[in-house]
Amino acid sequence: MKIKNVSVAYFSATYTTQKIVRQIAQSIKPSFAEYDITRKSVGENIYLDTNDLLIVAVPVYAGRVPLKAAKALDCFKGNDTPAILVAVYGNRAYEDALVELKDLVEHNFFKPISAGVFIGRHSIFHPIAMNRPNGEDLELATAFAKESSLILEKIKKTDSIASMDLPGDHPYKPYGQFPIYPTTNSDICNKCGKCSLLCPVKAISKTTPDHTDQVRCLSCGRCIIICPKDARSFSGELYDEKLEYFLEYFAKPNKPEFFYATVE
Ligand SMILES: Cc1cc2nc3c(=O)[nH]c(=O)nc-3n(C[C@H](O)[C@H](O)[C@H](O)COP(=O)(O)O)c2cc1C
Repeated sequence: MKIKNVSVAYFSATYTTQKIVRQIAQSIKPSFAEYDITRKSVGENIYLDTNDLLIVAVPVYAGRVPLKAAKALDCFKGNDTPAILVAVYGNRAYEDALVELKDLVEHNFFKPISAGVFIGRHSIFHPIAMNRPNGEDLELATAFAKESSLILEKIKKTDSIASMDLPGDHPYKPYGQFPIYPTTNSDICNKCGKCSLLCPVKAISKTTPDHTDQVRCLSCGRCIIICPKDARSFSGELYDEKLEYFLEYFAKPNKPEFFYATVE
């Protein structure tokens, strides 16, 4: 089949998912519609047709699709529309995130044709997968895009796409909340307001950035990487303990994985 329009929807707090999904999308079609759902939902339903393509990408949070992303993705409605799934994890494990992403898009009448799992720098434990995605990851993303394009070419009718069997369990892991929140070093912070503006859940006040609203905070790590003064960080005894554990068990680099639907 010939694809008319490509749409890309992604959640990406620390921009690793964004980098990977843009690489994939550009390798499929140089021009595409981009929906960044990290801070805001789209605000209206986006209807895609049978000969369009949706590429959907999320980071893995506690082995799941982040709840905010799952909710925001619901506005994308397909009509037996092909979809490419992308999950990005911090080198620990992706558990049920990929199968959950597949269920979410199938529920809205998309037909996944391929799925890629990539590794991005861990947004809480920065020394884990520090330089990911690296050049090799991006080359693999291009190869994945090309292989996905070949599948699209093979499709005559979208009802010939078989549902993919992906790793992950039902029921999914229960949602987990990471119990550590970023804090501000008030000696360095100049209250520029960038963290407050870019926080996906408005958990930081512009006037008192040294207070993080722990009920809202996702521990997504965006405020840390975008702070021009490096004033935000995860810290504390529990954090140091967990970091050590991650360094011991999850430092060995994993490789991206790819899955493709069969077309009958
Ligand atoms: C709250 C939270 C939970 C996470 N859970 C996992 C996880 O279960 N497994 C894993 O390998 N990485 C996990 N990560 C790391 C992210 O999946 C990884 O850093 C990803 O590259 C972040 O994507 P982004 O840069 O697009 O935000 C978690 C990160 C956060 C903030």
